[in-house]
Amino acid sequence: MNPEQKVKEFFKNIDENKVLKLLNYKLIDLANNIDYLSVDEIVKYLSTDVNLVSKILKIVNSPFWGLKYNVTSIKQAIVLLGRDEIKRIIYTSMLIASSDNANLEKEDRLFLLKHSFITAELNRIFYKDVDAYTIFFKNELFLLGLLHDIGKILMLTYIPNLKELIPEFVQNKDITLEREKLGLDHALVGGFFMRIIGYPNYEEVIKNHHSTKVDQSSTIYRLLGLSDLISYLFLTNESSNELIDKLDFEEWPLNEYISINKDKILETISELYMLNIDSLFE
Ligand SMILES: [Fe+2]
Ligand SMILES: [Fe+2]
Repeated sequence: MNPEQKVKEFFKNIDENKVLKLLNYKLIDLANNIDYLSVDEIVKYLSTDVNLVSKILKIVNSPFWGLKYNVTSIKQAIVLLGRDEIKRIIYTSMLIASSDNANLEKEDRLFLLKHSFITAELNRIFYKDVDAYTIFFKNELFLLGLLHDIGKILMLTYIPNLKELIPEFVQNKDITLEREKLGLDHALVGGFFMRIIGYPNYEEVIKNHHSTKVDQSSTIYRLLGLSDLISYLFLTNESSNELIDKLDFEEWPLNEYISINKDKILETISELYMLNIDSLFE
């Protein structure tokens, strides 16, 4: 059975309703259209899910945003932070909720969520240095970064003995082990999942985010590859100098479409060090 068939089998063994419930993808539409909705409409929609509201307020009140006083309602949060920030918060709360049933130790969960969030932030920050002809828009690049490893969450939720099979699964950057042990990998699972929930334009990019066979000149692969790698190095290295040393500029991924240079990367990383990212997910 080839990996694609294995992925189909993986999904066949899970109740489709459960698959669709993993990610509250209706929130993607809500967040994407947030500029066209009134504050009351946004509040009304979000308020139907108490769990979601508490997740959103927890993020809003985390030291990451540095607000001076406690925010107690969605309406107040929108007024204080504005729609762009709320959009990112909604996406992030959706990702956090998707990991609720994953079989994850506290430390691994924090790693996975932080890795996804930092990848998303880097995609967003680097956006203006990327050729405008990319098919993704700025908020979609954030979402793409946030969801690029959603396959890991799916596998951690539905493969019960995953931890025994691949103890290093969460922090492992190489998919060969997954292919060897399971016949499939999180990139394929994640890409297939995006198609199931109705976001096919994310499918190919997520499917190929560890592949070296894709068209290397494609801006979007390079951007996601760069953000993914920096995020990974950021979480596994002690200092920004060490990180830069490990970032191979020969291999990655600056081309004529992405004008991100070493200084820009260093500047971005030092900003990341100052943010309290842990507080978003604890
Ligand atoms: Fe990945
Ligand atoms: Fe990743």
